[in-house]
Amino acid sequence: MKVRKAIIPAAGQGTRLLPATKTQPKEMLPIYDTPVIQLVVEEAVKSGITEILIITGENKHSLEKHFDIINTENGKLKEFNKLLEKVDITFKRQSNPRGLGDAILRAKNFAHGEPCAILLGDDFYLNCETPATKQLIDIYENLEYPATIVGVEILSKEKMTKKGMVIVKGESNEVENIIEKPNIDSVVSDLAISGRYIVAPEIFEKLEKVTESSRGEIELTDGLADLLKDNLKIYSHLINGTRIDVGNPTEYLIANLKYAMLDESVKKEVIKVIKSELDN
Ligand code: G1P
Repeated sequence: MKVRKAIIPAAGQGTRLLPATKTQPKEMLPIYDTPVIQLVVEEAVKSGITEILIITGENKHSLEKHFDIINTENGKLKEFNKLLEKVDITFKRQSNPRGLGDAILRAKNFAHGEPCAILLGDDFYLNCETPATKQLIDIYENLEYPATIVGVEILSKEKMTKKGMVIVKGESNEVENIIEKPNIDSVVSDLAISGRYIVAPEIFEKLEKVTESSRGEIELTDGLADLLKDNLKIYSHLINGTRIDVGNPTEYLIANLKYAMLDESVKKEVIKVIKSELDN
């Protein structure tokens, strides 16, 4: 089955980015000149997705408005309008948010029995020859039997305790176990879930039964682990590209620099400023 639909959870409070996120969604913070959420939607559309459900929450009105097609003379907005014409975007509010798994569960009717891509709304990829989500879709669409695909990145043991950890069978990419935010002593892999997934429709019935984790959330990772318990397959894919997280102020600053410096003229300016700061 083709992957046509994507779910983008964007209901997080962004507390680590306060005060910038006091009244505006963290997904609307600009990376140089473009809100993070626009970069994520662009990745989905360039991956062939034609229907997107964005899960929103408190203070997300500006996010919804950002996806209106408007009359404009601005070249960049005209380009964005063209992209928006290729996709049907709807929004669903996650009232009483209880974590990522709970956000995804709100998309059950949207998925309507189809496999869905999931793109976390607060990180994005640079330097991808093929968009990150398209890499996962290509694997999914070439499988003999439907499965779930989880995008991964290689992380150090310390960083792994803040992510979902994936353990694969031997040298293969078949997932044997998947654990959310393991204790440092139980980290036995360097593969971390990197915010991009293709989920089989069975994920929703699993998430309905997942109970709260120790941090009081319904974890998507626990739903994925329950797929494995039912012998439903999950494969990992090391995403080819640079993952940019926008979780805290320092990461946000670095994200801006990396993205802006893709433009050679901006890169020159930035290097000039940094050099003169170093000289002072
Ligand atoms: C979520 C997922 C985690 C994944 C991470 C990627 O965690 O639960 O498995 O590794 O996103 O950023 P969060 O960052 O929301 O705590």
